[in-house]
Order: sequence, then C-alpha cells, then structure tokens
Amino acid sequence: MRRLLYIALLIFALVTAGCGTETEKSAGKSSVGENLVVVSLPVKFPERWIIDGEELQKNLKAKGYDVIVDYASENSEKQAFFLDKAIKDGAKCLIIAPVDAKSLVKICEKAKEKDIKIISYDRFIMDTEAVDAYITFDNTKVGVLMGSYVADILRLNSRADAVNIEFFAGAEEDNNSLMVYNGYMSVIKPFIDSGIVHTPSGETEFKKVCTEKWMPEVAEKRMDRILKDYYSREKLNAVIAPNDLLANAIISSLGKSGYKVHYPVITGQDADKVAVINILNGRQKATVFKDTRILAKNCADLADDLIKGKPIKADDENSYDNRRKKVPTFLIDPVLVTADNAISALVDSGYYKKVELGLE
Ligand code: BGC
Repeated sequence: MRRLLYIALLIFALVTAGCGTETEKSAGKSSVGENLVVVSLPVKFPERWIIDGEELQKNLKAKGYDVIVDYASENSEKQAFFLDKAIKDGAKCLIIAPVDAKSLVKICEKAKEKDIKIISYDRFIMDTEAVDAYITFDNTKVGVLMGSYVADILRLNSRADAVNIEFFAGAEEDNNSLMVYNGYMSVIKPFIDSGIVHTPSGETEFKKVCTEKWMPEVAEKRMDRILKDYYSREKLNAVIAPNDLLANAIISSLGKSGYKVHYPVITGQDADKVAVINILNGRQKATVFKDTRILAKNCADLADDLIKGKPIKADDENSYDNRRKKVPTFLIDPVLVTADNAISALVDSGYYKKVELGLE
C-alpha cells in the first residue's frame, strides 16, 4: 500500500514538474486579458532559446505587457494546445517559433478571428494568411557563411586533389533547416559537380541529411555509422553541421573513432558556450553567431507596433512566401565566428562573460 502511494506521489511530482518548468510567467498583474503577449518557443536547448525567452520577456515587460513564455519540447501538439489556451486567455499578440512549420494553420486562423496579432519568430510559419510578420536572422546567409568558410579553409577554388565532406541538416519540419541547407549547398554544390568534393556516404540530399527533431543523439548515431561504413581508409576533411548542438554530437562521435587532435573542419550555428570552448581549443572550427538580444528587442518593438495598429516597415516584403501570403519580413545579419573573432564578437559584445567560457 505504502509502495503504491509512493509511486502515485512520484508520478504526480514528475507530471507537475514537467508542466511547471517549461512555462515562465512575468511577475506583476494577472496575465489574463488586456495586456497579454504570449511567446511560444520550440525547446529549451540549444541555450539560445533560453536567451530568446529571457530577452523577449524583459523587452516586452519594459513596454508594459504581461508576458508568458512557454517551451514546447519540440512537440507540435503541445505547442498547439498551449497556443489554444493563449487565445482563450485573451492574448493580444502571439510570438511563435513553430516546432512544425506547417501544423499551426488552424490555431493561427482561430487567433486571427479574434484579431490577435501573430509574429513568426525565427522560424517561418507556413500555409496561412494569418501571420502578420516574420522576424528572423537571414537563414540562407547562415548556410552561405558555413559553406563559404569550408570552401575557403579547404581552398576548394584552387586545389587539384579532392576532399571528403559530410553534410547534416536540422529537423525536416523546421523551415530554417532547408534554408540553411540551401545556403551551404549554393556554395558547395558546384564543387561536388566538378569532382573536387566527394561525399563517400553518398548522403547529400536534404531529406537524407535531416536530423529528427534536431536531436544530438540522432546526429551522433548517423556520424558513428558513416565513420564505420565509409571512413576506415578515407580521410574526412569537413562536416557541415547545421547547429552547435549537432556539431558537438559529431565531435563526440569522432572522439569515439579515435580523433583527438586533428579534427576535420566542423561548422555550427548559435555560438553555444560549449561550441565556443570547442572553437577555442580547435575541436570545432566555426559557428554562426545570431545575436538573440537584437532579435528579441526588435521583436518586442514589432509586437508593440502591431498591437497599437501602427504601420510596419519590413526589410523584405517579397521573398518570404508561406504559400498563402508574402509575409513582411524583418531580417537580422548572422556573423561567422572562428577562433580569431570569438572574443570580440561574444565577450566584448557582452553576450558571454569570460568566466562562462572557462577563460578566467
Ligand atoms: C534555429 C537554430 C536552432 C535550431 C534548433 C533553428 O530553427 O534557427 O538557431 O539551433 O532551430 O533548435
């Protein structure tokens, strides 16, 4: 009996802990009603999403809004359920980074019927006219920065002998994954066609290189398999990893395969702390830094303008077509970070303290 009670209490504790930790409310008056802005982010890791959540919360509160930030654990049903509740709670604006670009059509349309403003944040929401604006980093440029870095460092333009490169992409449901992939392929594909770049695994197509739900363990397993099946004799020159979480998983796979000092060129994205440390000690060569403080600040301004009915002036009115509408888009520039500029880009700008990178 006591054992049963213990199990029941344990289950209750786990369930309530799971619910509580993912949602953060701003302090102050009740969040229900008049002044509510609701933020729905896909997941807590990579750590950039935590900074996004904190910065959105801070900037929106400074404008007088009540804010709820929720993390969907890369689960699209959970995200839709939460947004449905936000609509019932009378939110004035929904700021959404979708888990699945195509699965929020009904929710967005329901919100639009109540004149709730919708901002697609960092990730693009597809297939609905209900989205008012999209604010993001230039994801194609993220990929171009990765591809160009690899092309430069491996001297693809001038070398006579071939190199081996393996490719990874993010979750198939995340529109950013394809944009980043298209960005790096726009640089690397001509070298595949000319025979300077080989991919011994043969896995170059987008669907083949996607990583389920951006899960590091999936990337690590795929890298384990590729190393085992194709690289017992071949040299691996570079791996294009679409973010730092996956880059670190790839590094771990290489470590198990005996790489210790001379790693292939590995890219990434987000400037995660671990990646910056990896870059400073040579395990990873580059990441793409996206200053989420700027994204969140600009997004809070945009939300305020939309709620107040002020006109908005997007950077790009034409290129971001979600198949139902050209969504006015606000773009922020990503920055390539290597060992040469890591300190100036990340520490001098105040994004990280030296001590967080193990430098003090
Ligand atoms: C974001 C990346 C992030 C990835 C995984 C993408 O949509 O643009 O910054 O690393 O999702 O969460």
